[in-house]
Amino acid sequence: MAGTDNFDYRAAEGRYGGGMEYRRCGRSGLKMSALTLGFWQNFGGIADFATAKAMMELAFDRGITCFDLANNYGPPYGSAEETFGKLMDLSFRPYRDEMFVTTKAGYDMWAGPYGNWGSRKYLLSSLEQSLRRMRLDHVDLFYSHRFDPDTPLEETLQALVDAVRQGKAVYAGISNYPVEAAKFAVGYMKSRDVPCLCYQGRASLFDRRHLGAGGVLEAMDANGVGFTAFSPLAEGLLTDRYLNGVPEGSRMYRGHHLTRDKLTPKTLAAIRALDAIARERGQTLAAMALSWVLKRKGVTSVIVGTSRVSQLEADLAAVNSPDFTAEEAEAIERAIG
Ligand SMILES: NC(=O)c1ccc[n+]([C@@H]2O[C@H](COP(=O)([O-])OP(=O)(O)OC[C@H]3O[C@@H](n4cnc5c(N)ncnc54)[C@H](OP(=O)(O)O)[C@@H]3O)[C@@H](O)[C@H]2O)c1
Repeated sequence: MAGTDNFDYRAAEGRYGGGMEYRRCGRSGLKMSALTLGFWQNFGGIADFATAKAMMELAFDRGITCFDLANNYGPPYGSAEETFGKLMDLSFRPYRDEMFVTTKAGYDMWAGPYGNWGSRKYLLSSLEQSLRRMRLDHVDLFYSHRFDPDTPLEETLQALVDAVRQGKAVYAGISNYPVEAAKFAVGYMKSRDVPCLCYQGRASLFDRRHLGAGGVLEAMDANGVGFTAFSPLAEGLLTDRYLNGVPEGSRMYRGHHLTRDKLTPKTLAAIRALDAIARERGQTLAAMALSWVLKRKGVTSVIVGTSRVSQLEADLAAVNSPDFTAEEAEAIERAIG
């Protein structure tokens, strides 16, 4: 660790002895913290900077080493990476080599034909921009954020391979790819000696699209590729946030992505039933929902996106949760239907 004298943060001495789990990512040499802190919605230009700083510092103090970003996280686009860059300069520069930092390109970012999807032009220019905003000379993992049906897959994948060869990224990965394209990507990247480190996909008690037989998780696990799970709390539905209405300031209140129509009577009944099971287990619904994802075979890390320090505290309690008994697993199945 470099000197910390010029920084206004000093990481907790006991950060690696506090119970955080580190899990091997597929068959790679890399371990990830069981929880990753995600920067999608709560670290942008309109978010409170002091809260963002406190959340990132708490995360690191409690053993979270993985930080997940993308070019367009904010709002506005790019601003979450700018927040991260400021935090590097204020607090984290001495700890850079203890951190695993990811970014992505693939969704709408800037105007014109080169600011979206999967061309080599877009991916490599975007990575340059991300590094500038994040005040880094490399990221640890660069993801293609989504599959582009109109760009030859080889072109997108070769851009990832070349980002690694150029030293701009240490590893490369993919996100939101259909299973067949994901398998192709794994084979292509392996043949170029830049193996796909991991797949990032949506996974929660409410969204099991990747988790079944023949799905992405199984395919990645069989190929030695890790899996990082995003929106493990279904953007807050799998917490106590909406048990008694839609609180002001919540993600659903703001209506960005998580819209009110998602809180149907059926979903609310499922949340209530799950909450009761969690209480019986002696944990919060959030901690139970996160641990349920963490216990799926092949999942490396779950990415949480907290809006306040107390939520991060609650989410950290998910690590090392007790296994689910057969009765609990059945009750969960009944609750989610
Ligand atoms: N690859 C992709 O395409 C993709 C897509 C989406 C996300 N991601 C990544 O995954 C990360 C996580 O996604 P996400 O933000 O949707 O995750 P999430 O953990 O499912 O939802 C986060 C939201 O849940 C609420 N919450 C969290 N902990 C809570 C607690 N203990 N009690 C009550 N409420 C709690 C907060 O809502 P309030 O804001 O209402 O407080 C928070 O903003 C993102 O930051 C990003 O890094 C990747």
